Amino acid sequence: MIINLTVKIARLELKNPVMVASGTFGYGEEYAPFFDLNRLGAIVVKGITLKTRAGNPPPRIVETPAGMLNAVGLQNCGLEKFVTDKMPFLRQFETPIIVNVNGETIDEYIKLSEELSQVEGVSALEINLSCPNVKAGGMAFGVDPDMVYLVTSMVRRATRLPLIIKLSPNVTDIKPIAQRAEEAGADGLSLINTVLGLAIDHKTGQPQLGNITGGLSGPAVKPIALRMVWEVSEQVSIPVIGMGGITKPEDALEFLAAGASAVAVGTGNFIKPELAIEVIEGIKDYLAKEKIADIHEIIGRFSREITYQTFIDREALLEGHFLLSSGRHSGRYFQAAMVLQDPSLASNLCAKLAKKFKGEQIDLVIGPAMGGVIVAHEVAKNLGIRAIFSERVSGKMQLRRGFRINPQERVLVVEDVITTGGSAKEVVDLVKQAGAEVIGVGSLVDRSGGMELGFQLKALLKIEIETYEPDSCPLCQKDLPLVKPGSRTAISTLAERLKRE
Ligand SMILES: Cc1cc2nc3c(=O)[nH]c(=O)nc-3n(C[C@H](O)[C@H](O)[C@H](O)COP(=O)(O)O)c2cc1C
Repeated sequence: MIINLTVKIARLELKNPVMVASGTFGYGEEYAPFFDLNRLGAIVVKGITLKTRAGNPPPRIVETPAGMLNAVGLQNCGLEKFVTDKMPFLRQFETPIIVNVNGETIDEYIKLSEELSQVEGVSALEINLSCPNVKAGGMAFGVDPDMVYLVTSMVRRATRLPLIIKLSPNVTDIKPIAQRAEEAGADGLSLINTVLGLAIDHKTGQPQLGNITGGLSGPAVKPIALRMVWEVSEQVSIPVIGMGGITKPEDALEFLAAGASAVAVGTGNFIKPELAIEVIEGIKDYLAKEKIADIHEIIGRFSREITYQTFIDREALLEGHFLLSSGRHSGRYFQAAMVLQDPSLASNLCAKLAKKFKGEQIDLVIGPAMGGVIVAHEVAKNLGIRAIFSERVSGKMQLRRGFRINPQERVLVVEDVITTGGSAKEVVDLVKQAGAEVIGVGSLVDRSGGMELGFQLKALLKIEIETYEPDSCPLCQKDLPLVKPGSRTAISTLAERLKRE
């Protein structure tokens, strides 16, 4: 079975989603005796500063239950030596090299980013706004959303390389910080950096680290990292690189399910130098065993499960014997109105749908009445543009009420549920007739089962539900009364059945 493991972080293509985290893999050379570095998705090198840095006074590392506390303080060889001594080794590999950038001032971040952008073999920059072990820059910048915006936008102007912002977990709410980084032009986010901690020698009352406090990493931080990766992935439309406590393939699969497009192995490299390779192989084995041909099927799976559960909880998944508009029969029917009747839930789901089309410079959202009206309105609200709906008059999809689609407008067509895609297709044609451009079709639920729809569809939830030709419908054979959706005769909800069971 051929399995697609490739993922993209902006225009950076990785052959697999497993990187090694900054500061835990040196400059690559240290790990080259253990395996072929070409096998990695990407290498993120130790944090670089403009000048050589000695780091913090020792001791700099303390072991903790299920983790370690470090206060290395960004010891590194500095930009010049990195370029002359480290890059020639690294650029032999086809694996993308991501450089972790650190400054005490915004100017230093800008200068480093400008200089590194000229260096052959540097594939992307990871801007570290999260180091907890330095007095200036790092985490001091990363805990303030406005500062994150400022640094990101200034660095954005200084480089054309893919720009990844590394976020700190040492904040009350990471979502607005992630959002500001995206608004300022970040191409991706990596999280989490280490969690600020302290170790005391109980016999002397002295700190165990020279820097007093340090950053906690390893399995101890994994639940915090997973929670934050999920929160951030729900918030932004740029890719997230998840890290924190990955020591086995299952950990990486959890981060991917939480919404990470890629992961990084950090502290685990110290325990087992070839761990990243084991993680890659383990992901591959899992996908093969489950017959999943593409890694993207598991990315964000957790979020989709939560959305599905929401539909079940709101009794939106009906069970019975239904006549669909295509003429086929089905045992299940999605009644999205059950979900959309809750305005804040409608807002929330449509915001997630809108996220899939952010950055596409859409001018107008249109949905067919009835199902598409609320969805169009909420998606448009999120994109800050206008929303209209179309109606069927004498069987023909039309614009009424003075609604207009202007030629050359970039239009998004939305629906609540796509089954055969009939209504959406009619709206697509309406948009084209007006001389406007259809940018895409979005739906809360796609239950088309991979049918050729004639347009490209992005949906929050993709679900396989069997449909039958009337003459071979097993529900007809059981003499179950046939219902046209909308009526609740002979309908139970899946939630009711689950309750009964
Ligand atoms: C010894 C050590 C040094 C680190 N140095 C850096 C660094 O220079 N830049 C950076 O962004 N993160 C640095 N980190 C943070 C890691 O890249 C990673 O974000 C964090 O450790 C969580 O992942 P883990 O639990 O798998 O280690 C360092 C972590 C450790 C343990």
